[in-house]
Amino acid sequence: MKGVVLAGGLGSRLKPLTAVTNKHLLPVYDQPMIYYPIQTLVNAGITDIMIVTGGNSAGDFLKLLGNGKAFGLKHLNYTYQEGEGGIAAALSLVEHFAGDDAICVVLGDNIIQGNIRAAADSYAKQGGGAKILLKRVSDPQRFGVPELDGKRVLQIEEKPANPKSEYAVIGIYMYDADVFKIIRTLKPSGRGELEITDVNNAYIQRGDMTWDELEGWWSDAGTFESLLYASNLVAETGANNQELTYAAEASANS
Ligand code: G1P
Repeated sequence: MKGVVLAGGLGSRLKPLTAVTNKHLLPVYDQPMIYYPIQTLVNAGITDIMIVTGGNSAGDFLKLLGNGKAFGLKHLNYTYQEGEGGIAAALSLVEHFAGDDAICVVLGDNIIQGNIRAAADSYAKQGGGAKILLKRVSDPQRFGVPELDGKRVLQIEEKPANPKSEYAVIGIYMYDADVFKIIRTLKPSGRGELEITDVNNAYIQRGDMTWDELEGWWSDAGTFESLLYASNLVAETGANNQELTYAAEASANS
Protein backbone atom coordinates (compact mmCIF):
# COMPACT_ATOMS: atom_id res chain seq x y z
CA MET A 1 0.00 0.00 0.00
CA LYS A 2 1.22 3.50 -0.84
CA GLY A 3 0.73 6.54 1.42
CA VAL A 4 -0.64 10.01 0.77
CA VAL A 5 -0.50 13.03 3.10
CA LEU A 6 -2.86 15.86 2.14
CA ALA A 7 -1.26 19.12 3.23
CA GLY A 8 -2.82 21.81 1.06
CA GLY A 9 -5.66 24.19 1.86
CA LEU A 10 -5.76 27.74 3.11
CA GLY A 11 -5.93 26.98 6.83
CA SER A 12 -8.46 29.79 7.10
CA ARG A 13 -9.67 28.67 10.53
CA LEU A 14 -6.16 29.40 11.88
CA LYS A 15 -5.70 32.93 10.52
CA PRO A 16 -3.48 34.91 11.21
CA LEU A 17 -1.15 31.95 11.99
CA THR A 18 -1.62 30.80 8.38
CA ALA A 19 -1.38 34.25 6.77
CA VAL A 20 2.20 33.64 5.60
CA THR A 21 2.69 29.90 5.97
CA ASN A 22 0.92 26.57 5.44
CA LYS A 23 -1.07 25.15 8.38
CA HIS A 24 0.88 21.86 8.24
CA LEU A 25 4.18 23.64 8.95
CA LEU A 26 2.91 25.07 12.26
CA PRO A 27 4.18 23.47 15.47
CA VAL A 28 2.25 20.82 17.37
CA TYR A 29 4.23 20.79 20.63
CA ASP A 30 7.80 20.03 19.51
CA GLN A 31 7.38 19.06 15.86
CA PRO A 32 5.96 20.57 12.66
CA MET A 33 2.37 19.34 12.20
CA ILE A 34 3.17 17.34 9.04
CA TYR A 35 5.70 15.14 10.89
CA TYR A 36 2.85 13.32 12.65
CA PRO A 37 0.88 12.04 9.63
CA ILE A 38 4.11 11.01 7.88
CA GLN A 39 5.14 9.05 11.01
CA THR A 40 1.66 7.46 11.10
CA LEU A 41 2.24 6.03 7.60
CA VAL A 42 5.82 4.93 8.33
CA ASN A 43 4.69 3.17 11.53
CA ALA A 44 2.17 1.23 9.42
CA GLY A 45 5.03 -0.04 7.25
CA ILE A 46 4.25 2.35 4.38
CA THR A 47 7.38 3.86 2.82
CA ASP A 48 6.26 5.05 -0.63
CA ILE A 49 4.66 8.38 0.30
CA MET A 50 3.31 11.37 -1.66
CA ILE A 51 2.84 14.78 -0.04
CA VAL A 52 0.14 16.93 -1.69
CA THR A 53 0.62 20.59 -0.91
CA GLY A 54 -0.28 23.96 -2.40
CA GLY A 55 -0.28 27.70 -1.81
CA ASN A 56 2.68 30.04 -1.34
CA SER A 57 4.75 27.99 1.12
CA ALA A 58 4.96 24.80 -0.94
CA GLY A 59 8.73 25.09 -1.31
CA ASP A 60 9.13 25.05 2.49
CA PHE A 61 7.99 21.41 2.60
CA LEU A 62 10.97 20.40 0.49
CA LYS A 63 13.32 22.40 2.75
CA LEU A 64 11.80 20.85 5.87
CA LEU A 65 11.33 17.25 4.76
CA GLY A 66 13.88 16.71 1.98
CA ASN A 67 13.95 13.02 1.12
CA GLY A 68 12.39 11.97 4.42
CA LYS A 69 15.61 11.13 6.29
CA ALA A 70 14.05 12.12 9.65
CA PHE A 71 11.60 9.22 9.16
CA GLY A 72 14.16 6.70 7.93
CA LEU A 73 12.97 7.12 4.32
CA LYS A 74 15.18 7.29 1.24
CA HIS A 75 12.76 9.34 -0.83
CA LEU A 76 9.58 11.41 -0.65
CA ASN A 77 7.24 12.34 -3.51
CA TYR A 78 5.65 15.77 -3.79
CA THR A 79 2.83 17.23 -5.85
CA TYR A 80 1.26 20.67 -6.01
CA GLN A 81 -2.43 21.55 -5.84
CA GLU A 82 -3.35 24.69 -7.73
CA GLY A 83 -6.21 26.55 -6.05
CA GLU A 84 -8.74 25.09 -3.63
CA GLY A 85 -11.12 22.26 -4.32
CA GLY A 86 -11.58 20.13 -1.22
CA ILE A 87 -10.00 16.95 0.08
CA ALA A 88 -11.25 14.73 -2.77
CA ALA A 89 -9.96 17.19 -5.38
CA ALA A 90 -6.52 17.13 -3.72
CA LEU A 91 -6.63 13.34 -3.69
CA SER A 92 -7.38 13.17 -7.43
CA LEU A 93 -3.85 14.55 -8.06
CA VAL A 94 -2.19 11.32 -6.88
CA GLU A 95 -3.83 8.99 -9.44
CA HIS A 96 -0.62 8.55 -11.49
CA PHE A 97 1.36 7.91 -8.26
CA ALA A 98 -1.06 5.26 -6.99
CA GLY A 99 -1.31 3.33 -10.26
CA ASP A 100 -3.13 0.06 -9.49
CA ASP A 101 -2.09 0.05 -5.81
CA ALA A 102 -4.23 0.69 -2.76
CA ILE A 103 -3.57 3.92 -0.88
CA CYS A 104 -3.70 5.03 2.74
CA VAL A 105 -4.64 8.73 2.86
CA VAL A 106 -3.91 10.81 5.97
CA LEU A 107 -5.12 14.39 6.37
CA GLY A 108 -2.08 16.48 7.26
CA ASP A 109 -3.64 17.84 10.45
CA ASN A 110 -4.65 14.47 11.95
CA ILE A 111 -2.55 13.27 14.89
CA ILE A 112 -2.84 9.94 16.68
CA GLN A 113 -1.40 8.51 19.86
CA GLY A 114 -0.99 4.94 18.63
CA ASN A 115 -0.68 3.34 15.24
CA ILE A 116 -2.84 2.01 12.41
CA ARG A 117 -0.86 -1.12 11.60
CA ALA A 118 -3.68 -3.52 12.57
CA ALA A 119 -6.18 -1.59 10.44
CA ALA A 120 -3.76 -1.52 7.49
CA ASP A 121 -3.19 -5.30 7.82
CA SER A 122 -6.91 -6.01 7.98
CA TYR A 123 -7.52 -3.74 4.97
CA ALA A 124 -4.87 -5.64 3.01
CA LYS A 125 -6.74 -8.91 3.74
CA GLN A 126 -10.08 -7.40 2.69
CA GLY A 127 -8.95 -7.41 -0.97
CA GLY A 128 -10.19 -4.05 -2.26
CA GLY A 129 -12.90 -1.56 -1.37
CA ALA A 130 -12.35 0.98 1.39
CA LYS A 131 -11.82 1.22 5.14
CA ILE A 132 -12.41 4.17 7.47
CA LEU A 133 -11.36 4.61 11.08
CA LEU A 134 -13.77 5.90 13.71
CA LYS A 135 -13.27 7.49 17.10
CA ARG A 136 -15.87 8.31 19.76
CA VAL A 137 -15.91 12.10 20.36
CA SER A 138 -17.85 14.60 22.46
CA ASP A 139 -18.45 16.99 19.52
CA PRO A 140 -19.33 14.85 16.46
CA GLN A 141 -21.05 17.75 14.68
CA ARG A 142 -17.54 19.10 13.83
CA PHE A 143 -16.76 16.03 11.67
CA GLY A 144 -18.00 13.42 9.24
CA VAL A 145 -20.37 11.26 11.33
CA PRO A 146 -21.36 7.66 10.51
CA GLU A 147 -24.75 6.07 10.98
CA LEU A 148 -23.99 2.54 12.16
CA ASP A 149 -25.81 -0.76 12.33
CA GLY A 150 -23.36 -2.94 14.26
CA LYS A 151 -20.34 -3.51 12.04
CA ARG A 152 -22.19 -2.03 9.06
CA VAL A 153 -21.92 1.66 8.23
CA LEU A 154 -25.15 2.84 6.60
CA GLN A 155 -24.10 6.38 5.59
CA ILE A 156 -21.86 9.26 6.60
CA GLU A 157 -23.07 12.82 7.09
CA GLU A 158 -20.62 15.73 6.87
CA LYS A 159 -20.85 18.03 9.92
CA PRO A 160 -24.50 17.17 10.75
CA ALA A 161 -26.47 19.40 13.12
CA ASN A 162 -28.06 16.24 14.61
CA PRO A 163 -25.38 13.52 14.55
CA LYS A 164 -26.66 9.92 14.18
CA SER A 165 -23.82 8.50 16.34
CA GLU A 166 -21.13 9.62 18.79
CA TYR A 167 -18.37 8.75 16.33
CA ALA A 168 -16.23 10.93 14.09
CA VAL A 169 -14.78 9.63 10.83
CA ILE A 170 -11.13 10.45 11.39
CA GLY A 171 -8.93 11.70 8.56
CA ILE A 172 -7.24 8.36 7.77
CA TYR A 173 -8.75 6.45 4.84
CA MET A 174 -7.79 3.33 2.88
CA TYR A 175 -8.93 3.00 -0.73
CA ASP A 176 -8.42 0.79 -3.75
CA ALA A 177 -7.64 2.30 -7.16
CA ASP A 178 -11.38 2.76 -7.89
CA VAL A 179 -11.27 5.87 -5.69
CA PHE A 180 -10.18 7.95 -8.68
CA LYS A 181 -13.13 6.79 -10.79
CA ILE A 182 -15.43 7.69 -7.89
CA ILE A 183 -13.90 11.18 -7.53
CA ARG A 184 -14.62 11.84 -11.22
CA THR A 185 -18.35 11.31 -10.54
CA LEU A 186 -18.54 13.81 -7.63
CA LYS A 187 -20.30 17.17 -7.71
CA PRO A 188 -19.15 20.08 -5.49
CA SER A 189 -20.96 20.32 -2.14
CA GLY A 190 -22.72 23.36 -0.69
CA ARG A 191 -19.33 24.75 0.36
CA GLY A 192 -18.07 24.34 -3.24
CA GLU A 193 -15.74 21.39 -2.45
CA LEU A 194 -15.38 17.78 -3.60
CA GLU A 195 -16.03 16.08 -0.25
CA ILE A 196 -14.20 13.01 1.03
CA THR A 197 -17.50 12.09 2.72
CA ASP A 198 -19.08 11.71 -0.75
CA VAL A 199 -16.24 9.36 -1.75
CA ASN A 200 -16.89 7.27 1.38
CA ASN A 201 -20.66 7.21 0.76
CA ALA A 202 -20.02 5.91 -2.77
CA TYR A 203 -18.07 2.95 -1.32
CA ILE A 204 -20.86 2.39 1.24
CA GLN A 205 -23.46 2.26 -1.56
CA ARG A 206 -21.36 -0.36 -3.35
CA GLY A 207 -21.27 -2.43 -0.14
CA ASP A 208 -17.48 -2.07 -0.14
CA MET A 209 -16.74 -0.19 3.11
CA THR A 210 -15.45 -1.49 6.44
CA TRP A 211 -14.59 0.41 9.62
CA ASP A 212 -12.35 -0.06 12.64
CA GLU A 213 -12.29 1.88 15.88
CA LEU A 214 -8.98 3.65 16.50
CA GLU A 215 -7.23 2.90 19.79
CA GLY A 216 -5.59 5.73 21.73
CA TRP A 217 -6.36 9.40 21.37
CA TRP A 218 -6.92 11.21 18.07
CA SER A 219 -7.13 14.91 17.31
CA ASP A 220 -7.22 17.17 14.32
CA ALA A 221 -5.33 20.45 14.64
CA GLY A 222 -7.10 22.79 12.26
CA THR A 223 -8.68 25.20 14.76
CA PHE A 224 -7.16 27.15 17.66
CA GLU A 225 -8.87 24.87 20.18
CA SER A 226 -7.86 21.60 18.51
CA LEU A 227 -4.30 22.82 17.84
CA LEU A 228 -3.85 23.59 21.55
CA TYR A 229 -5.58 20.32 22.55
CA ALA A 230 -3.38 18.27 20.21
CA SER A 231 -0.21 20.04 21.41
CA ASN A 232 -1.09 19.32 25.05
CA LEU A 233 -1.82 15.66 24.30
CA VAL A 234 1.51 15.26 22.49
CA ALA A 235 3.33 16.97 25.38
CA GLU A 236 1.65 14.69 27.93
CA THR A 237 1.82 11.29 26.24
CA GLY A 238 3.74 11.58 22.96
CA ALA A 239 2.21 10.71 19.59
CA ASN A 240 2.70 7.86 17.10
CA ASN A 241 3.71 5.37 19.79
CA GLN A 242 6.65 7.55 20.73
CA GLU A 243 6.49 6.27 24.31
CA LEU A 244 6.51 2.69 23.05
CA THR A 245 9.51 3.48 20.85
CA TYR A 246 11.33 5.02 23.80
CA ALA A 247 10.39 2.02 25.93
CA ALA A 248 11.68 -0.38 23.28
CA GLU A 249 14.94 1.60 22.99
CA ALA A 250 15.34 1.66 26.77
CA SER A 251 14.86 -2.09 27.08
CA ALA A 252 17.22 -2.71 24.11
CA ASN A 253 19.88 -0.58 25.83
CA SER A 254 19.48 -2.12 29.28
C1 G1P B 1 -12.48 16.72 7.27
C2 G1P B 1 -13.55 15.78 6.73
C3 G1P B 1 -14.37 15.19 7.89
C4 G1P B 1 -13.44 14.51 8.88
C5 G1P B 1 -12.35 15.47 9.34
C6 G1P B 1 -11.31 14.75 10.20
O1 G1P B 1 -13.09 17.85 7.81
O2 G1P B 1 -14.38 16.50 5.82
O3 G1P B 1 -15.31 14.26 7.38
O4 G1P B 1 -14.20 14.04 9.99
O5 G1P B 1 -11.67 16.06 8.22
O6 G1P B 1 -10.30 15.61 10.62
P1 G1P B 1 -12.36 19.31 7.81
O7 G1P B 1 -11.47 19.33 9.00
O8 G1P B 1 -11.60 19.42 6.52
O9 G1P B 1 -13.48 20.30 7.92
